[in-house]
Amino acid sequence: KEYRIAVVGATGAVGTKMIQMLELSSLPIASVKLLASKRSAGKKLLFKNKEQIVEELVPESFENIDIALFSAGGGISKKFAPEAVKRGAVVVDNTSAFRMDKDVPLVVPEVNEAALKNHNGIIANPNCSTIQMMVALEPLRQAFGLKRVLVSTYQAVSGAGASAIQELKKQLQDMLDGLPKEELTAEILPCGGDKKHYPLAFNALPQIDVFSDQGYTYEEWKMVNETKKIMNDDSLSVSATCVRIPVLSGHSESVYVELGKDNLTVDEIKATLKDAPGLVLQDSPEEQLYPQALNSVGKKETFVGRIRQDLDVTNGFHMWVVSDNLLKGAAWNSVQIAESLHKMGLVKVN
Ligand code: A2P
Repeated sequence: KEYRIAVVGATGAVGTKMIQMLELSSLPIASVKLLASKRSAGKKLLFKNKEQIVEELVPESFENIDIALFSAGGGISKKFAPEAVKRGAVVVDNTSAFRMDKDVPLVVPEVNEAALKNHNGIIANPNCSTIQMMVALEPLRQAFGLKRVLVSTYQAVSGAGASAIQELKKQLQDMLDGLPKEELTAEILPCGGDKKHYPLAFNALPQIDVFSDQGYTYEEWKMVNETKKIMNDDSLSVSATCVRIPVLSGHSESVYVELGKDNLTVDEIKATLKDAPGLVLQDSPEEQLYPQALNSVGKKETFVGRIRQDLDVTNGFHMWVVSDNLLKGAAWNSVQIAESLHKMGLVKVN
């Protein structure tokens, strides 16, 4: 049996990558339906070199759909994911709408694929920054146990969507053309939902999403809460600082971990990470080899390097973790979840 798949938000930064990942996927696909807002209805996109016409998203869009991938914002997911489930589809949702719901599995297949077994129609794809960190931390957790994680992110603008990419490109061009910084325009970043907006061009903005409890942003809370849920460990200590930088795609993270075992060496850490699923070790200071955002673009893997022992804490290690936020951080992880559902016999065929 081949699946009829819908992509919600098919014209967006993540949606267009979902289409590409489906093209490369091992899933048996009968058809792909591309859904977006009314503004995009009638637009043509390619799937496997065949033109597909984008349709306006309505509840009836999900008639005869087996798998629906959502990436059109949390509000759209809240409204339409239940419509898809009602019509018998399984939903993989890339927004934060359902991630912390108790009956919604939050899945990184390398870490907790088994959690899919308990799904009730909706599976949540974690936040992009959380996903790549999970891929790098899970092998260490399995081998040595994890006690504490401190992470600072250097996040690309594509995580904020296609319009944020356009905003940054225009600011960069304006600045190179000599426009004084007071005259740059910003309407989206650091966060579409907040009151003030600042230029990202040649800048670093320590705000992703709106501010929430204890001075942390919602993005920072996502990294904390999602990590505990995915690793199924509420006792794990996690703190995050999330920063947007003027990179188009590829999130970088400085991750500090305290492991459950003492007296480990950097070589033992490297050996553990070397063959881990979805992870590529790039760590050779003598050759200046380390992960770079630019090199991660278009790759499904997560890259790890710069592994060092902390200078004071014997079970503490630092590392640099990089991945394409639109692929493993979003579109690829979603399609990978769909592949796992297929493999595990968890897609109902209507
Ligand atoms: P559209 O291009 O028609 O606006 P991004 O994350 O890059 O900003 O993309 C958001 C995606 O969500 C786009 O595909 C966008 O479609 C889609 N979208 C936004 N609002 C709606 C809506 N009201 N109904 C359906 N899709 C929407």
